[in-house]
Amino acid sequence: MSPITGKDTVASLQARLEQTERQAHARQRQLERYAADLREVFKQERARAQELRRSYMATVRALSNAVEARDAYTGKHAERVAAYGMELARCCGLAVEDSPQIEFGFLLHDVGKVAVPDAILFKSGSLTEEEYSLVRKHPVIGVEILRDVDFLGEGKLVVRHHHERWDGRGYPDRLAGDAIPLAARVFAVADALDALTTDRPYRPASSFADARAEVMRGAGSQFDPVVTAAFRQIPDTTFQALRESL
Ligand SMILES: [Fe+2]
Repeated sequence: MSPITGKDTVASLQARLEQTERQAHARQRQLERYAADLREVFKQERARAQELRRSYMATVRALSNAVEARDAYTGKHAERVAAYGMELARCCGLAVEDSPQIEFGFLLHDVGKVAVPDAILFKSGSLTEEEYSLVRKHPVIGVEILRDVDFLGEGKLVVRHHHERWDGRGYPDRLAGDAIPLAARVFAVADALDALTTDRPYRPASSFADARAEVMRGAGSQFDPVVTAAFRQIPDTTFQALRESL
């Protein structure tokens, strides 16, 4: 558009103003269309991401169920531990809402047991030293099985370290204290709670109250005392409701 000069009449100035306004409106409409397009793209991306997340979860659950199908006795152990663990993880400040990887790790913690023969895994008597050393390999075997599954992320740390102890007397790496990933320290408490509150061939299930007391006895030795302190704040009814929801 040419610069305004003294020769411009009011009418021509009016016309130029109207033209400028039309152009501004056109640009605004174009920007609004871009914004609407962007919103649509974001919506579709979010839907795709949610679909992907559901697919990942379904895949992980299928694998977890395949592992558990071998052992009718502990049925749904992984699902219960995952539910208890997620509740406890939230109370310990882990960002579980943004990332499903910790839950994946909880569900798949014992995937390495596929490499342990039934005769050892379900042996009613005590294990020989050789048999026990094979059982103790399951966290490392589990991580090896999942090595190339990138979407599991830090969930693999749970698989590797779910039998470490706060006092360093666990396995496979004998890590102690804060060196054990927090998600694995949380898992250890959830795992103990489920083990104690489930019937086993050699003993009946404990009540949640008795199981809680037993877990608290391991605070500072087997378990992270900060995690057990958070665990103590969660009422029995919360765990019972999670158990019944599965
Ligand atoms: Fe295990």
